[in-house]
Amino acid sequence: MGFLGIPLRAKMYDYAKVLELERELIRKERQIEYLQLELKRYQTAIEELRQGMRPVGLVQDVVESNAYVRLEAGQLYEVTIPPNLKDKVQPGLLVVLTPNKGAVLNVVERRLTEKDLWSLKIEKNINVFYEDVVGLDKELKELRKAVEWVLSPAIRHKRESIVRDSRLLEEAGTVLLFGPPGTGKTYMAKAVAGSLNKYGQRTAFIKVEAYELVSKWLGESARNVRELFRLARGEAPCILFIDEVDAIARARTEITSDAGRDVQGMLNQLLTEIGEGFHANKDMAIIFATNLPSVIDPALLDRIRKVIYVPPPRSKEDVKKLFDFYLSKVSVDPNIWKDGKMTMDAFEELWKLIRSRRLIYEVSIQPRNIKVFDEYWITPRDIKNIVQEAASDAAFQEEEHVTLERLVEYVKGLISEKPSHMSFL
Ligand SMILES: Nc1ncnc2c1ncn2[C@@H]1O[C@H](COP(=O)(O)OP(=O)(O)OP(=O)(O)O)[C@@H](O)[C@H]1O
Ligand SMILES: [Mg+2]
Repeated sequence: MGFLGIPLRAKMYDYAKVLELERELIRKERQIEYLQLELKRYQTAIEELRQGMRPVGLVQDVVESNAYVRLEAGQLYEVTIPPNLKDKVQPGLLVVLTPNKGAVLNVVERRLTEKDLWSLKIEKNINVFYEDVVGLDKELKELRKAVEWVLSPAIRHKRESIVRDSRLLEEAGTVLLFGPPGTGKTYMAKAVAGSLNKYGQRTAFIKVEAYELVSKWLGESARNVRELFRLARGEAPCILFIDEVDAIARARTEITSDAGRDVQGMLNQLLTEIGEGFHANKDMAIIFATNLPSVIDPALLDRIRKVIYVPPPRSKEDVKKLFDFYLSKVSVDPNIWKDGKMTMDAFEELWKLIRSRRLIYEVSIQPRNIKVFDEYWITPRDIKNIVQEAASDAAFQEEEHVTLERLVEYVKGLISEKPSHMSFL
């Protein structure tokens, strides 16, 4: 007989069984998460197709109530202009045609002028600096090493005098940051720009979100990628930050749809622009970021000099450091705050809750031989949100400072949310 009268053998057997089932459960959960993401991807693809089905073209000429419209693919159509659009349709404008390409359906307002493009992209007054990035010392150092020399004339000249064959400098300053959501990819890129501007030379920060590129510029995306690089070169020294690059750099896009072709066109253009090399992209660092590096086209990966994993906080100490950092920016109950840090007793209260949460990030980037598997509890973004919400709540309730109770409340709110598993192998 074993403990509490349960036969020992039976107990050991059950234990093994439980472990096995638990493992199976995790595997199934992961599959569900994956399928949900797949589902979303299909929905997006359908949406793209729907948009792509509406032909878009450039008006070449208008003759009475007819317009000559050239589609992106090159064919010229003579189409009818409905009376309500009579005044609007003019040569040089983009229009959407009916699916049978018989008439103009609408005038597209999204022809971006240089000015529009610019106001969309250039971030002014960046107020994130190196010292604001918590717990990513190694990653930040790698990022700096990869991009700063491209931007700094002094280091650059030194480098060029050592590396005499410029081909060895090609694709310099191209970096891919990848990692789970909310770990600081966008934040780190901003910190580079912010710090260079503050401590070094003026450096423009041009940020584009690839999903936005695809949805807003459908039909003329390749041209806009070209334009983007042209303008960025004009702004050098600059950091061109292309966030969520998976949206335009998927290895397997559906090229039978207009939308798919469009994305393919963007990728090709992107490869061309980077391939122009060191001298064309002088004084320009290109930083890409994504959660889903495994879908990225091998040709693009091949042109990226450095791939950097931005991990989630991996230890209790890492988590505490982030709480200390964000709490140091608000007024905290002195009972839980000593010497610029949260007291260990108070933190334990939060930690007890946090550690019950479980998130998984698992990806592989085959062409670069990179495999990552991380289990974690909370992201820097979560921590920032908790502190921010607790603080605004305190203000709203006219309390003097953030108390442990408030923090506990928001941590509880977080752990009641559905956990996420990201697994892309
Ligand atoms: N290492 C960090 N140190 C301090 N704050 C951080 C850190 N990482 C993230 N944060 C905070 O969390 C916010 C969100 O981070 P960020 O936008 O960089 O995440 P991300 O990795 O780009 O996520 P996503 O993949 O969803 O785009 C930041 O604005 C910052 O306030
Ligand atoms: Mg981001």
